[in-house]
Amino acid sequence: MTLAAAGILGAANMGHKSQADEKVTDVREDGMKEMGKALKSIKGLISDNGDKAEIAAQAQKIVNNSAKIPTWFPKEAGLGEAAKPVIWEQWDKFEGNAKNLNAQASQLVAAAQNGSDMGAIQTQFTNTGKVCGTCHEDFKNQKD
Ligand code: HEC
Repeated sequence: MTLAAAGILGAANMGHKSQADEKVTDVREDGMKEMGKALKSIKGLISDNGDKAEIAAQAQKIVNNSAKIPTWFPKEAGLGEAAKPVIWEQWDKFEGNAKNLNAQASQLVAAAQNGSDMGAIQTQFTNTGKVCGTCHEDFKNQKD
């Protein structure tokens, strides 16, 4: 199939999205965006030498949301968005990324709470952000 044909099929899929599908994709997009915002504010807090309790609070949002990622991707729901079909073919790997994000973000919460210096918090922040990229690389179409 040519890329153009794939694009047309993708667009056709979107047009036929069921309401249930739409709800699922809205929930996961909101949840992902919330994590994006949390990462951004943590980045700002680190560079401003900001409040570590606030860093912990933002990181906790990532802990909470990452635990829900598997429930945001019922089998083959919302194809035609950026979710790749390979998610459901390599579910263990996909779920493993979600678990890893949960573990890394939990360590970030801990580092921010236990009085670690900003350098250590920064390192754990980087480890956390990397997991987002790893999962997106394998499982998310880069639209733009
Ligand atoms: C387990 C895999 C996985 C992990 C981990 C993950 N994502 Fe995603 N993310 C996806 C997939 C798949 C999509 C595409 C979903 C869709 O379009 O239906 C996505 C979409 C997004 C989007 C776009 C939402 C939109 O408006 O369409 C943002 C923003 C995002 N992720 C941020 C993050 C951030 C920040 C992290 C880390 C804190 C993260 N993601 C971790 C798989 C993951």
